[in-house]
This record gives sequence, C-alpha cells and structure tokens, in this order.
Amino acid sequence: MSRQYEKLEKCYAYYRSRTDFTPKVGLILGSGLGGYAANMQVETEIPYGDIPGFPVSTVKGHAGRFLLGYIGTVPAVAMKGRVHYYEGYAMEDVVLPVRLMKKMGIGILFLTNASGGINRAFSTGDFMMITDQISSFVPSPLIGENVSELGERFPDMTHIYDRELMEVIEKTAQEEEIELKRGVYLQTSGPNFESPAEIRMYAALGADAVGMSTACEAIAASHAGIRVCGVSCISNMASGISEEELSSLDVQAVADRRAGEFARLVTKSIEKM
Ligand code: HPA
Repeated sequence: MSRQYEKLEKCYAYYRSRTDFTPKVGLILGSGLGGYAANMQVETEIPYGDIPGFPVSTVKGHAGRFLLGYIGTVPAVAMKGRVHYYEGYAMEDVVLPVRLMKKMGIGILFLTNASGGINRAFSTGDFMMITDQISSFVPSPLIGENVSELGERFPDMTHIYDRELMEVIEKTAQEEEIELKRGVYLQTSGPNFESPAEIRMYAALGADAVGMSTACEAIAASHAGIRVCGVSCISNMASGISEEELSSLDVQAVADRRAGEFARLVTKSIEKM
C-alpha cells in the first residue's frame, strides 16, 4: 500500500467514525463562493482540523470544513475552503481532500473557483464553464509512487472535464437565463499574481482564465475515476488586461454580486447530474 493511501485510509476511518453519510457529488467552493453553503440542507459538518493528517489552510478566514447533506435531493459533500499549493503543502496533500471525497463515495466532482480573466471577451463577474485546463506550470499531483488503489500510473487526460456534465451545466444556464462563458483554465502556483508579460504568454498558450487552484484537483479526481466539471467566477481581469489594481481585489464582493445566479446554476445542474 502506498504511503499516501495509508494516510488517506486514516482520514477515511476518521470520517466513518463521525458519520455513515455517503455523498454522490462533491462540490469545492472557491474563494468568495462559500456562501453557497446556505443553499444546502446540511446534516453534518466536519472541520478539516478534526481529521488526522488532513491539510488545513493557513490563509486567514479559509479554515475550512466538509459540509455533508443534500443539494436538492442529491446527497452531497461540499468543501468550504480548500488548501492551495502556495501555502507550502506538497501537491499530494493539496489533493488529499479530493481523494478522501472519492473514498466517501462521490462519482462526480463539481469544482468552483475565482479566477482572473485573460480572454478579452470576458468581464468581471462572468461565469466561465471550464472546458479544459493547463496545469503545466505546477507539478502534477500524481508525482511519486502511484496510488494504485485509486487509479493507473499514466492516466489519460483527453476528457478531464466530462462532456455530459458540461452539457448539463450549459443547458441549465440556458434554462435559467444565466450567461455562461466557456474556456480553458490555467493554474499557476501563486501566491503572487501574474505579470502582464506572463498573462500575454498564457493568452498565447490558449488560456482564458488564470487561478491558483483547481487543475491539480481535476487531475487527481480524473485519475481516481471521478467525473469532473467546473465553473469559475471571473473576479477580475488579469494583470495588464485592464487598469484594475490587483492589490485592491475584492473577490468576495464580486462573488456576492453573482451569488444568487451561482447558487441556481450549481443547484439546478447538480440536481440533473
Ligand atoms: N490571477 C491568479 N489567481 C486569481 C486571479 C488572478 O488574476 N484572480 C483570482 N484568482
């Protein structure tokens, strides 16, 4: 058994000591989007800090927890807060929560985040359905001994974002009359924002939005056979794209403006998945 799987088994044993709840869908709530939790019928909460060996965010106000309950009628687990690579955790620890949700029973992972818009057709506050990703600027979370209990050594990443789930999200957005952009998400290590030259490079490489999370989680989930989908909230236009100062970026304020539509898009999509 790989060392990482042993660690995972310990986390899972703790989880089972707390609840017999088996979620079908996992939802990671990105920066500013934690308020979505109010839309869930929560049965049990487990703070990350309670789980032995679990990575806990060092970012102020990010200290997170698992929320177990129902989204509509769908048994689900939501992560309020996630850890980021820039906090200093190894990639395999950054994705441990995703793997734990797999052990809990999820077959679908809905990823959300806040990101900087690179595509000039985007505006602050837009929702972008993630259609593909570029993770080449951060290490793969699969480096090291393969966790063969979860997946194979060389997993195919042709369809990381599940085509059927994308259709569900797109159709839901149409029905609900919520404007939805689509695009490629690029993950950087952070914690610094990008330089304008980096953003021009990322644009040339085909990225539509940039952020400091998500792609690694999508890889780990896909490796473990979880169907993945994702929606990004464009909290700002990326460095050099607009005059906006990133130093005064208020991700929460932007997300709050779209909170109602975000909640409808997520809930109604998940109900159809
Ligand atoms: N760059 C990187 N990550 C981000 C940004 C950005 O502009 N906005 C929100 N997360």
